Amino acid sequence: MVLYFSATGNTQFLATELAEKLGDECIDLLERIKKNDLSEVRSEKPFIICTPVYVCEMPRFLSKYLKKLSFAGSRKVYFVANSAGYCGITGYLAKKMFRKKKMEYMGHAEIVMPRNYFIGHYPVQTNEEIKERLLNACDKLDKVANAIKSGNRLHGRYVFMFEKLITIPFNPVWTKYKMPASDFFVTEKCISCGRCEKMCPLNNISIKDKMPVWGKNCTHCMSCIGNCPADAIEYGNITKEKGKYNFKKYRHFLNGGKPGEAEKKFSANRNLPKRRNNG
Ligand SMILES: Cc1cc2nc3c(=O)[nH]c(=O)nc-3n(C[C@H](O)[C@H](O)[C@H](O)COP(=O)(O)O)c2cc1C
Repeated sequence: MVLYFSATGNTQFLATELAEKLGDECIDLLERIKKNDLSEVRSEKPFIICTPVYVCEMPRFLSKYLKKLSFAGSRKVYFVANSAGYCGITGYLAKKMFRKKKMEYMGHAEIVMPRNYFIGHYPVQTNEEIKERLLNACDKLDKVANAIKSGNRLHGRYVFMFEKLITIPFNPVWTKYKMPASDFFVTEKCISCGRCEKMCPLNNISIKDKMPVWGKNCTHCMSCIGNCPADAIEYGNITKEKGKYNFKKYRHFLNGGKPGEAEKKFSANRNLPKRRNNG
């Protein structure tokens, strides 16, 4: 069983592709996280957790959720982290978490995907860079799927002690002080559809007078900005200058189609992505 959280579509793509390659079921954890639904998950096949990386770890709300969730059936668990280049201590923390749960940790894979986060000094990526990352990610995913199919362990990057020493205190401080929701705002393009409220994993957005209002509990996942069908959400001046990321805008790089076609296929309803055409 593949379980995933995805804010802007990268992890969703990897997870659904992986599930398809393995002939396994795939569960989007968003609703469960939002409702704190801790009903048991059961699978006779190994569990495979797919996650993006936030500040060198898996998202804190996801690790909190997974720690509480009970896994029944198979005792094996794989972990697939994706980032814009540095997964930090994600694999190390996953191993620790699942060993505590008395599960057999089958290792983790790190996959580089396009960056969805431009706040701060991060540069915008060119279309060529995005395309190359997506194609490389698909190749890596094939290898991961083959290893899992054969029952082999995944061999993630070795995490050094200094990475743990820096990240463990750094992550909560950065998340607390460098991720304010106060710079989010909505423009007159808003169509009051409520999608931002539904997509926020922390239930930090409420709709007041038909417009979204952000609370203080934000993790900058970019789900509200990246999934707004009217492109009506901005973050200070940054998103106006640097744009916004959603995987569906770039899916056509994998199937040879045109941008407009990909948008239509990968609808705003989080449909499963179409399979990649290898030709
Ligand atoms: C709040 C936040 C923090 C991030 N931190 C890192 C990081 O430490 N290292 C990294 O390589 N990428 C980082 N990223 C980039 C994402 O991990 C990456 O783009 C991922 O593919 C997004 O997945 P999604 O589209 O499924 O949400 C960060 C993204 C966000 C939103």
